[in-house]
Amino acid sequence: MTNQKEIEKRRTFGIIAHPDAGKTTLTEKLLLFGGAIQTAGAVKSNKIKKTATSDFMEIEKQRGISVATSVMAFDYRNKHINILDTPGHKDFAEDTYRTLTAVDSVILVIDNASGVESQTEKLMEVCRMRNTPVIIFINKMDRYGKDAFDVLDEIEQKLDINVRPLAWPIGMGDEFKGVYNMYKHELSLFDGNKTNISEELIKFSDLTDPQLDEIIGEKAAGELRDEVELVDGVYDPFNQEDYLSGKVAPVFFGSAVNNFGVRELLEAFVEISPSPRGRDTDEGFIEPENSKFSGFVFKIHANLDPNHRDRIAFLRIVSGKFERNTFYKHVRNSKKMKFANPTSFMAQDKSIVDEAYPGDVIGLYDSSNFKIGDTLTEGKDFNFVGIPSFSPEFFQELRNDDPMKSKQLEKGIRQLMDEGVAQMFIQEPGSRKIVGTVGQLQFEVILYRLLHEYGAKCSFTPLNYHKACWITSDKPAEIEKFTRAKVGSIAKDKDENLVFLAETSFLLEMAERDYPEITFHKTSEFKVK
Ligand code: G4P
Repeated sequence: MTNQKEIEKRRTFGIIAHPDAGKTTLTEKLLLFGGAIQTAGAVKSNKIKKTATSDFMEIEKQRGISVATSVMAFDYRNKHINILDTPGHKDFAEDTYRTLTAVDSVILVIDNASGVESQTEKLMEVCRMRNTPVIIFINKMDRYGKDAFDVLDEIEQKLDINVRPLAWPIGMGDEFKGVYNMYKHELSLFDGNKTNISEELIKFSDLTDPQLDEIIGEKAAGELRDEVELVDGVYDPFNQEDYLSGKVAPVFFGSAVNNFGVRELLEAFVEISPSPRGRDTDEGFIEPENSKFSGFVFKIHANLDPNHRDRIAFLRIVSGKFERNTFYKHVRNSKKMKFANPTSFMAQDKSIVDEAYPGDVIGLYDSSNFKIGDTLTEGKDFNFVGIPSFSPEFFQELRNDDPMKSKQLEKGIRQLMDEGVAQMFIQEPGSRKIVGTVGQLQFEVILYRLLHEYGAKCSFTPLNYHKACWITSDKPAEIEKFTRAKVGSIAKDKDENLVFLAETSFLLEMAERDYPEITFHKTSEFKVK
């Protein structure tokens, strides 16, 4: 066993949330606790929020920020923690989905007043696909919101996961008094004006202790006792195995902006969250302890500055030890590559790394060698699997407005697709280029980048498709029959997989009903076996 100590030290996770729930604030507080930053305000939100969709300078600025905050590392209690940032804007949701393939666990932030929102449901679906362990932080307890039991019910119903509160709030809004940590049997009192990060904890192994009434008042103490009893009666005791297999999500309450409840969350996180896990490949499962280096690219960030056309490929290390200036195999290209400037990120700082271990994410400067999903190995050839494409929600036909620039367009669009900006489908038969995205903003980004980076002038014509579903069947004749019947609605993705472009949800349901031998996949994950 090599690198065992380094592996056990690492915790790689992502914070996910519906925009405005408090992801940026929580990230910043975690970095403050970890000493990675000294002042609040150092982490910029990567939201593209107060922006008109056509304001590209703003998008570029925001993209720049999101490179800097792509990975934020800090040390806490002898653990090396990597936070992988996920874009908040819903139009970049696919970027978030892919980042979730590179984490070992997730902290989900929910706004106590808003409860479970649409984006949260989608993000959780992706977590469930690979049984990612999830800890839930219910934020903004300093405001009036939903009753704690109601929020938990809503989470269980809408997110289809069992919960187990490990902390319990005492009141909310102006009456928010603090949180009782049921895991550690400690009371932590809220001071709305708190500006420092030290929290005084009072040990309370027995809630019947009359001292509790003195500290938080008789009424609040009575309520807390009743509610904790109810929690213990309603929810099964916390079981770490169930959390690690994604069956139950422990829940904490707090107020990130007031630094409240964040330490409890972090303490529990370092104690219960998983160390780096292995990943599936087309040649079987690779354990992190495997002595040979391997890793995969889950994100590519283009530098939009025309003077610096390089890109950064973000690589998650799965096994072995990555070393600078050492040759590794780029499996898809069958090419040996070495890296002089592999980069690690730390809040706003970047630095060159000489070595990195499973769980770490490094940035590799790249001139169009990488595609999302690419594997680097030392030794045996294999490919990591399970970086899915998701069924896009918006479709437009890409037209070339300058036939003299066809080559530039081909190159540009290929590179943008490699980066995962959008997905392209080629209509079958024919050669219509249909671009599918998860948000409208991407179309503008694509046109802008094709023009400014590749000199290709194009336009989009909106198409009325509802969903693109990958189709597979054990019976090739069924597929043939289907594609004949649906001429005009069939296309191929970048890997030549057949895709059905359904115009409405009704037509999709009809197709599913009429062709029971065909499976209609909403993500390309079906390729994972
Ligand atoms: P996001 O990254 O999930 O989109 O959310 P972000 O942290 O940017 O937080 C969204 C807003 O919610 C921010 O206010 C932030 O200050 C506020 N917030 C975060 N945590 C808490 C909390 O515990 N209690 C309360 N009351 N508010 C909280 P903003 O006005 O949009 O931005 P700002 O001007 O304060 O930065």
